[in-house]
Amino acid sequence: MARDFTSVGVVGLGTMGAGIVEVFARNGVDVVAVEVSEDALERGRAILTGSTDRAVAKGKLAEADRDALLSRVRFAVGLDALHSVDLVIEAVPEHLDLKQRIFAELDRVCKPEAILATNTSSLSVTEISVATSRPNQVIGIHFFNPAPVMKLVEVVRTVVTSADVVADVEGLCKRLGKVDVTISDRAGFIANALLFGYLNHAVGMFESHYATREDIDAAMKLGCGLPMGPLALMDLIGVDTAYEILDTMYRRGGRDRRHAPVPLIKQMVTAGLLGRKSGRGFYTYERPGSPVVVPDEQTPVTADAALGDGTRAGGEPAGPAGLAKIGIVGSGTMATGIIEVFAKAGYEVVSVTRGAEKSAKVFEAVKTSLNKGVVRGKLSEADRDAALGRINWSATLEHLADVDLVVEAVVEELSVKKALFASLDEICKPGVVLATTTSSLPVIDVAMATQRPADVVGLHFFNPAPLMPLVEVVETIRTSAETTATARAVCAALGKTGVVCGDRSGFIVNALLFPYLNDAVKMLEASYSTADDIDHAMKLGCGYPMGPFELLDVVGLDVALAIQRELYLELREPGFAPAPLLEHLVTAGYLGRKSGRGFRDHTRR
Ligand SMILES: NC(=O)c1ccc[n+]([C@@H]2O[C@H](COP(=O)([O-])OP(=O)(O)OC[C@H]3O[C@@H](n4cnc5c(N)ncnc54)[C@H](O)[C@@H]3O)[C@@H](O)[C@H]2O)c1
Repeated sequence: MARDFTSVGVVGLGTMGAGIVEVFARNGVDVVAVEVSEDALERGRAILTGSTDRAVAKGKLAEADRDALLSRVRFAVGLDALHSVDLVIEAVPEHLDLKQRIFAELDRVCKPEAILATNTSSLSVTEISVATSRPNQVIGIHFFNPAPVMKLVEVVRTVVTSADVVADVEGLCKRLGKVDVTISDRAGFIANALLFGYLNHAVGMFESHYATREDIDAAMKLGCGLPMGPLALMDLIGVDTAYEILDTMYRRGGRDRRHAPVPLIKQMVTAGLLGRKSGRGFYTYERPGSPVVVPDEQTPVTADAALGDGTRAGGEPAGPAGLAKIGIVGSGTMATGIIEVFAKAGYEVVSVTRGAEKSAKVFEAVKTSLNKGVVRGKLSEADRDAALGRINWSATLEHLADVDLVVEAVVEELSVKKALFASLDEICKPGVVLATTTSSLPVIDVAMATQRPADVVGLHFFNPAPLMPLVEVVETIRTSAETTATARAVCAALGKTGVVCGDRSGFIVNALLFPYLNDAVKMLEASYSTADDIDHAMKLGCGYPMGPFELLDVVGLDVALAIQRELYLELREPGFAPAPLLEHLVTAGYLGRKSGRGFRDHTRR
């Protein structure tokens, strides 16, 4: 007969434990909440009441329900209070010896039929279980942060966990309104195995001054639709906890260098900069435990606003100082979107394509896209006509002689781009910013094709350009500060966020996104889990808008493979080697939605 969990114990009331207490108490389960000292107990109680008070203030929880919830929780110091609970979930710091000691003690204190569960993120549940005399009743129940909000629970079964224990815990997860994925005992399970390499890489970018914390976080939020950027997430997880997880994953997961904690993380732990819980981590918070970020010495002064805020008077472009006329070269998807973006923002545009036929096609595409805006009520007919009227169509580069900025969006071939930049150098006025939209070529190669590399910058728009709010502003080692400032201000005037980064393969977004996607393919290839469960885990555990396999099918497996190869070639990181399964799927013509089949079959939907 299935177990009936009427009372549970939670050990450790930190970031996770306090949230787990709330999950149970909200769902009518009595909880014995245990800490190591009176002080720690008070801190845990404060996290719980803080969270439930916020829920009441937001109208998500009635006051009476909050009171009933809190009345279900009994607080105690020491494990002895757990003698009669049906299940214990341990959520103490991520140290194997500490957890083993606690499990040995729980084994002694708890009734023989009680299930003992760990919320570990990366340690071996098996190694924890053998500290008890009942390893068949030991299981991993891995909640996600914040536990009351995130829907996913990873249920970790070891080789000795009884089938009935797994089934009962799965049933309990359902009762708590959670979605569970049941997996075996491997470092990082599904979600953390895919998440922490990415987080560590992002910290590495910050440590090496590749980009600012704000820009790294904005890039991943706006470029990938993630609920928070990687550095803000490190602060939420806890920098100390993240360190331990990375360290364990490095040691247990085949010594993948990408999991070796970036030195800055250890330094922050030593300095007490633990994230939200200590009031300071990558960002500074109003007070310990608060989610509210306050400005500190690293907070940028917004220069964008000073240079041009996108407001215009009388239809005149009021963009960044002196920029009125923009040249855009190319006739593909990106060029078409970028022409629309500038024209809609009030700039006079000179579009240069390779002939009247191409120009006519681009004109039609821009018109169709603007018409969609009219149909949706986002744009008036007059504004559409004005935008179209601002575009001048040409097939000769000479017409760029008087523009204030050129955006190049031609084919992704270095020789073609270099030849074009050499011509622009001859034709354009001095001091004009010359921008390339390349997503994979080194911007410095293009810059050096001109006599004015200080004026050359990357403006990496995302597809579809009219919709995506992010632009990566790519500085080479020769780009002047003035050029970067102008480029960033142009982005602001277009209503987009420009993030500044160095001239490395993948810039910020692709360098952080594609290795994660590639890792998901490797996980599938190793038969650790299914594509559906991996997609679920990332969506429900980490709040990603799409799972990795859904995204790969949309992006195109060939595109993903090409980007991954570039990253691997430039950075020589063994962990970046493309997953053989990805190569095989591309060879087989399974490219994703565009070919009808990728990781999933799209012809039958
Ligand atoms: N932080 C996250 O995002 C996250 C997410 C999922 C799982 N986890 C896992 O949850 C566990 C806890 O992590 P956390 O981030 O909540 O840590 P934390 O540092 O915020 O909290 C740990 C708590 O355990 C208490 N504690 C220490 N020794 C104890 C003992 N002997 N008896 C009782 N309590 C004791 C501490 O006082 C502290 O309050 C770790 O295994 C971690 O890997 C963390």
